[in-house]
Amino acid sequence: MTGAPESKVELAKRRSRHLRGTIAETLASDHTHFGHDDLQLLKFHGTYQQDDRDARRALEAAGLEKAYAFMVRVAIPAGAVTAGQYLELDRIAAEHGNGTLRVTTRQGFQFHGVLKGNLRSTIAAINDALLTTISACGDVQRNVMGCAAPLGDADHALVRQVAEALAVQLRPGSRAYHEIWLDGEKQLSSAEEEPFYGDHYLPRKFKAAVGLSTDNCVDIRAHDVGLLAIVHDGRLEGFNLLVGGGLGMTHNKGDTTARLAEPLGFVPVEHGVEAVRLVASIFRDHGNRSDRRHARLKYLLGEWGTPRFREEFERRASFTLGPAVELAALPFHDHLGRHRQSDGRWFYGVFIQSGRIVDAAGHALRTALREIVARLRPGIRLTGQQNLLLTDLESGDLDTVERILTAHGVTLPAALSAARRYSMACPALPTCGLAVAESERAIPGILERFEAELEGLGLRDAPLTIRMTGCPNGCARPYTADLAFVGRSLGLYNVYVGGGLAGDRLADLYRADVPLEELLESVRPLLQRWAAERAADEGLGDFYQRLMGLRARRTVVTGRELPTVDLLPEAVAP
Ligand code: HEM
Ligand code: SF4
Repeated sequence: MTGAPESKVELAKRRSRHLRGTIAETLASDHTHFGHDDLQLLKFHGTYQQDDRDARRALEAAGLEKAYAFMVRVAIPAGAVTAGQYLELDRIAAEHGNGTLRVTTRQGFQFHGVLKGNLRSTIAAINDALLTTISACGDVQRNVMGCAAPLGDADHALVRQVAEALAVQLRPGSRAYHEIWLDGEKQLSSAEEEPFYGDHYLPRKFKAAVGLSTDNCVDIRAHDVGLLAIVHDGRLEGFNLLVGGGLGMTHNKGDTTARLAEPLGFVPVEHGVEAVRLVASIFRDHGNRSDRRHARLKYLLGEWGTPRFREEFERRASFTLGPAVELAALPFHDHLGRHRQSDGRWFYGVFIQSGRIVDAAGHALRTALREIVARLRPGIRLTGQQNLLLTDLESGDLDTVERILTAHGVTLPAALSAARRYSMACPALPTCGLAVAESERAIPGILERFEAELEGLGLRDAPLTIRMTGCPNGCARPYTADLAFVGRSLGLYNVYVGGGLAGDRLADLYRADVPLEELLESVRPLLQRWAAERAADEGLGDFYQRLMGLRARRTVVTGRELPTVDLLPEAVAP
């Protein structure tokens, strides 16, 4: 804790009577939107108040208020839903949202464009489907990620079990959620409601992921805390506990940082859930509550250093932390296409551009998925790459899946370029209030240009993850990508290079303030050099790091802007 006064959000939490505030009253009124304190509290309930940024200027000129609408996020531990739940979410998107479903980069679903009058029925319908929005946003443990592949083996099953147990353990206990969205029965708030969080919850968001040493599909080091299951000779030995990751930072603020989680020690399997709870409790008790820009666990780690954090952890733990297991770079799988499960059945990974399940001209993805799910009733898993897996299929179903996708104009995974297949983008404009530049709407055009360039260089299938965000908060994990474009202001981006799918190092700021139309030009010489000099299977980030003399494995990138890295002077062939 610092001696500085609490931030306004801390006050809002504390006087909210355990997340009640005046949400119920505003919902019942004919106001079109919520006031300051309630805006903060709504996040804990899984919804953000937003407005249509495209319409802002015209509305303001006409003297009208903003076009308010809500984003509603469903928290889904390890991204697993049933066919029935998927069909219900699809229906809700049509009835109350903007007709799209969005798979998030942390294995949740988002609805956009929900009007205030429909907010209650939307959240109630999600709960009727036995899903929840509680703690999908806000200063609590967020959705718990876990490897999505339904391989059916004991390790994957355990990862999912631990993710679910964690989600339940650290879910807010307040009755406010039920009162406001479900049964309407008012009760007085009481301290017993929140034995873990108390009345001020966490200093800020807290993101947990459970991963496997055999597959880094959750990008384990990007989160506040990670349990990395150590699988050796097919046997699960326990977890490396990783702490202090987080990608958000602020442009021009050198004291804000993206940071990768570092190993704290080794935890026996049976203590995995307790370990995460302990880390959260240290954050709760010692995190910064005066400056929200410094309120993430990573800053506490930076301030204390790992030895002091470990000491505090061991003081609270009922078990002994062993030395973390040394690991080489983690493999990564995107799980797209046809794969066999260990029970003999199959799963099929469908690529979803920027996670947006939508019917567009010539590309009716939403209808295709609905038809497949209604007909085959598969299990559904969401991946941390914004894609969707259809599980528990019989071998004969695989052709049906591909036939339906193709008939609706959806490209099958095998036909995707590597650049498109591994791409990600955050929603940004027009919904996100923090966006300063385009992302989801711009990335299709950018990918087309990159695809043409890479094809010409013979790099169509070379591993490359391109990620884009509309501001430096980093929702699409740009700072662990091979190549990333991070919005600076409308039409301008900072270009980062040097991460990779293994997620074990951060990218460098490579060029600052590049206009949207010049993004490809800004890295063209690097791509040319990559084509000419790469080792077999060498990704762009790996190649870049080799050129830079393996300054690899940097674990912190600051918001300080300059100098940018200039690695391509005369040496580059034109
Ligand atoms: C720390 C600063 C951050 C802030 C203030 C922030 C805020 C937001 C907001 C307002 C949205 C809603 C946008 C919309 O749907 O219209 C959003 C989306 C999202 N954010 Fe963040 N975010 C931050 C960092 C991150 C990071 C580092 C991650 C992941 C590691 C992340 C994961 C997500 C996800 C999964 C979504 C849902 C949409 C998607 O798939 O991109 N956020 N964030
Ligand atoms: S990265 Fe920025 S613009 Fe994109 S969704 Fe997150 S907060 Fe919004």
